[in-house]
Amino acid sequence: MTPNDRELVSAARRLAKRLLRKPFLERWLHTQGVAHRAEEIAPVVPRGDRPLLVSAAWLHDIGYSPIIRRTGFHPLDGALYLRDKGWDPRLVALVAHHSGARFVPVERGFADQMAEFVFEDSPLSDALTYADQTVGPGGRRMTVPYRIAEAIARHGPDSPNARARVDRVPYLLAVADRVEQRLVKGD
Ligand SMILES: [Fe+2]
Repeated sequence: MTPNDRELVSAARRLAKRLLRKPFLERWLHTQGVAHRAEEIAPVVPRGDRPLLVSAAWLHDIGYSPIIRRTGFHPLDGALYLRDKGWDPRLVALVAHHSGARFVPVERGFADQMAEFVFEDSPLSDALTYADQTVGPGGRRMTVPYRIAEAIARHGPDSPNARARVDRVPYLLAVADRVEQRLVKGD
């Protein structure tokens, strides 16, 4: 990593810690787990994208912080905050779209705002989603199917995430397949 890359990753970690650790210890532990998972699976993305992957992992859930809350839809709130602060547009869009967030906003009435962020269909976005979907609350490692079931149980069957599952779950499982194949191939 170049000095600039290292600075990006540590700035992301500092910001996430400031926004999440006090109000949401469980979420902060989850975030730490996702960032470490992203470091482990970084070989599945091009070398130049690895700092972006790890930085996005640190920042993906900052939208839960009450300090930056706007719409109440955390992927969007995180992205709006990061965009206002001038973070890399690719990183901002990764945060907006992590873990199939684009399948949820119609349900929540935020489709227009989400459309301002371009969804990147790539090994990089797959890796971020995979890291998030293999680490549960408190940083516990879990498989993607277990994590999907755990999240639906936690948020409730009538939650927007649960109602979006017809589109979102096949997407998350396809991401897991792609990333696991890339990990096996070592590319
Ligand atoms: Fe997360």
